[in-house]
Amino acid sequence: MYRSDRLKQVSGTIFALVAARKRELEAAGRHIIDLSIGSPDLPPAPHIIERLRHEVADPNNYGYTIQCSAEFNQAVAYWYAQRFGVTLNPATEVLGLLGSQEGLANICLALLNPGDLVLVPDPAYPIYQAGPQLAGAEIYRLPLTAENNYIPQLDRIPPEVCARAKLIILNFPSNPLAATVELDFFYELVEFARRHSILILHDAAYSELAFDGFRPPSLLQVPGAKEIGVEMNSLSKTFNLAGCRMAYAVGNPLMLQALAEMKSHSDYGPFEPVQRAAIAALTGPQDYVRQTALIYQRRRDLLVSGLNALGWSVNKSKATMFLWAKVPEGQDDHHFTFQLMEKAGVAVIPGSGFGEYGRGYVRIGLVQDEELLQEAVRRIAASGLIRAAS
Ligand SMILES: Cc1ncc(COP(=O)(O)O)c(C=O)c1O
Repeated sequence: MYRSDRLKQVSGTIFALVAARKRELEAAGRHIIDLSIGSPDLPPAPHIIERLRHEVADPNNYGYTIQCSAEFNQAVAYWYAQRFGVTLNPATEVLGLLGSQEGLANICLALLNPGDLVLVPDPAYPIYQAGPQLAGAEIYRLPLTAENNYIPQLDRIPPEVCARAKLIILNFPSNPLAATVELDFFYELVEFARRHSILILHDAAYSELAFDGFRPPSLLQVPGAKEIGVEMNSLSKTFNLAGCRMAYAVGNPLMLQALAEMKSHSDYGPFEPVQRAAIAALTGPQDYVRQTALIYQRRRDLLVSGLNALGWSVNKSKATMFLWAKVPEGQDDHHFTFQLMEKAGVAVIPGSGFGEYGRGYVRIGLVQDEELLQEAVRRIAASGLIRAAS
């Protein structure tokens, strides 16, 4: 009675279970190293905080904004031109969001009808499945496995599915898999989507957290992508502004108009100081962004070499703030996760929490400093969980 069927369908994530067990153990006096969350632990650049502080002090900045300012849209267009060489019309091809999570949920409500079919990756960030489900749409899962390098095999999708599909949702660099693609995959994707009249929604939230010189491409670098697609990007990970909610969607004007209209029923625009801080982030110096990526890269190196030395074979991610690690042979990822928390005091997320094809893996967040990551390796070694199983 108190929850709609729609809500019941998408409730109860593994994140809540992991967090609840963590709280119980902490209440019993245990210290847990939390590598389960995808929230940046690093601060924003000082010039961004300074801009926010300045704008918050201005009493004129407290009204409804309704939507993002022309300056914000121009800043996004400027950033896309600098970073990807992509030209955007700030008036029609940019839409500000209160975080990409909001945008991903609302765009599904804006575009989809009950019964529509949506192609979604599995395993994947949960909203790609929950968004279409909240809109009453059906899901067709694209399995992302080690065998296909965690990239969907578009030519393997049955013709009748392609004929019915209305939207495909993808995310590279990806959460939780830390998988990446080169630009040629986006060419293939755009060609596929045009051939079957399918809209594309690409989530590029981790486009700047890439390592070893790798520069993730944008969907919109493909000529014609804007005719059928939208890309979302966020200031949360790139600029360490996760709590200072600001993101944007870029690309097809008609898809963006529908999203803007849907949003107008549930929000009145981002807080002006947050928009101005975002403008400072997008148009200001980008060296802090590169330094942030280097910090994650060092953490990745430390954790991967530490875990490999224990006999837990974990691959190096090329991007994101995550490692995607196969659990020791014969173990269930859910059971392994809770054992790891009990015996080692280290929290991660079981892969099956991101979809059926994530079974047998865990997602480890690089979201603590090097000292704590070293301590996590020591604790995992002492727990005997790896040695015992391999
Ligand atoms: C792939 C991906 N997309 C979107 C988001 C949401 O980001 P935002 O803070 O912009 O809502 C996250 C957050 O973890 C994410 O991992």
